[in-house]
Amino acid sequence: VEKIVLIGAGNVGYHLGRRLVERGIELRQVFSRTIEHARKLSRQTGVAFTTKLQDIDDGGSLYILAVPDAVIGEVARVLCKKKWSDTLFVHTSGATPSGVLKPYFSHYGVFYPLQTFSASREIDFSKVPICVDAPHPEDKDRLYALGAQLSEQVYRIDDRQRSVLHVAAVFVNNFTNALFEVGHDILQKEDLSFDLLRPLILETAEKVQKHSPGQMQTGPAIRGDQNTIDRHLAYLEMFPDYRRLYQTLTRHINPEIRID
Ligand SMILES: NC(=O)c1ccc[n+]([C@@H]2O[C@H](COP(=O)([O-])OP(=O)(O)OC[C@H]3O[C@@H](n4cnc5c(N)ncnc54)[C@H](OP(=O)(O)O)[C@@H]3O)[C@@H](O)[C@H]2O)c1
Repeated sequence: VEKIVLIGAGNVGYHLGRRLVERGIELRQVFSRTIEHARKLSRQTGVAFTTKLQDIDDGGSLYILAVPDAVIGEVARVLCKKKWSDTLFVHTSGATPSGVLKPYFSHYGVFYPLQTFSASREIDFSKVPICVDAPHPEDKDRLYALGAQLSEQVYRIDDRQRSVLHVAAVFVNNFTNALFEVGHDILQKEDLSFDLLRPLILETAEKVQKHSPGQMQTGPAIRGDQNTIDRHLAYLEMFPDYRRLYQTLTRHINPEIRID
């Protein structure tokens, strides 16, 4: 049975900490640098907190580092000053190799929840895919078992696969969101409400829950509707950046369209 210490009470730590407790898993302590963040998660979980890495409880079996990618190594360096035997240390990043922990601990790995988390938004953790990895098979099994207690979807995903997964995730999440922002901006310039587009965004995302995206494409590019595209490009003269995006994506969808 794992005894967990959670280092980080940000977007990921906040949701992960609450899910651990909700599932009856022993969470011994939470850490956050800022007292309000540490206290908030502590209050929600009934678990002790600290704001000092030196005061981390050393009685855990598994330490989850949910801290920004750039500081995972730095946090590990502070933690490794304590005496650890078979304790397992993992980070929660999709973008950082597990090896970042290797200089500091003999048992290390990754526990990556593939979802976009914001502390201000509730999330159904049972639907969050969890990607686990560790060089020792028994550590990987432990992480898999923990993942299965939190979510319906757990995957063994190695460093290379995870970095590729992260590239794909940037496309479907960050880039589509940037395109939502383009739509928002264009409507705002015309004094139109973004509410007009919200149902369309939802339906686009819902369709690919049951079908593959390539089969669900609609719109002027896939139809080869050159006249409409010419009109759109003319309108977009006033937004040169958006025009370039439009050209790139149109060519991607249908290479036969003329875009200049
Ligand atoms: N957000 C997501 O959607 C998401 C999804 C999957 C994976 N991840 C990964 O999960 C990890 C955490 O992301 P996050 O979004 O939860 O980050 P975050 O919201 O910025 O939270 C980071 C946590 O680390 C603490 N922290 C920041 N700098 C620190 C330092 N120098 N020393 C010690 N503690 C420090 C913060 O403390 P204070 O805030 O109290 O100062 C906070 O508790 C990252 O590796 C990220 O790639 C994120």
